[in-house]
Amino acid sequence: MTPTPIPSVTPTPSVTPTPTPSETPSGEPTPDTREGKELDEPYTVNGIILINKQHPVSKNYVPDEITKQGLTPEADKAVTKLMKAARADGITIKIRESYRSYATQKTIYNRALKTYETEELAKRYNAAPGKSEHQSGLAVDFWDGKLRGQGIAKTALGKWLWKHSWEYGYILRYPPDDKEKITGYIYEPWHFRYVGVEVAKEFGANSTLTLEEYLGVLD
Ligand code: DAL
Ligand code: ZN
Repeated sequence: MTPTPIPSVTPTPSVTPTPTPSETPSGEPTPDTREGKELDEPYTVNGIILINKQHPVSKNYVPDEITKQGLTPEADKAVTKLMKAARADGITIKIRESYRSYATQKTIYNRALKTYETEELAKRYNAAPGKSEHQSGLAVDFWDGKLRGQGIAKTALGKWLWKHSWEYGYILRYPPDDKEKITGYIYEPWHFRYVGVEVAKEFGANSTLTLEEYLGVLD
């Protein structure tokens, strides 16, 4: 008697799990325990500088080298490429501000305290001295030479930047809406932060991820 053949089992296609986007580098960030002279250097997580309201620097923190465009040499090269690419796409793009010393930030902040109705409001727009990442030479404010403020988001420049900046290692540092709860600042569609392409590609186009979320530093 011929044995009944065992029906062949159609193999179930193996399901490749969708990888969870690696929004945080592996491992817990080392807590910021700096004090005194240690504040002359910024807090870093996996080599990425984080300067915000919770992680300030002292007036003595000055980057090793700042270029004519007001950036570190690496951020400068990247911004030059970014602006060339934007212009090739027909975008008018200029640097409005980049490096600011502690002293400059102090002047700006004190002016803001006088301009805005309340201190609380001033602090949503301007960093106190030592709390601005402009002091790192890694931050750049773009504009088209005319328009300032949140209206930039709706312009060709604003849209291009949000979509393409990551390709050059820059991220939108203060995303809109509820992200103010994390960053402490209102939406700044003009302010971009250099983190390098490897990190920026984790953010990608039109990302609302904050640097704090990415680094896992939500204090
Ligand atoms: N406007 C940004 C938050 C700064 O003052 O650095
Ligand atoms: Zn800025």
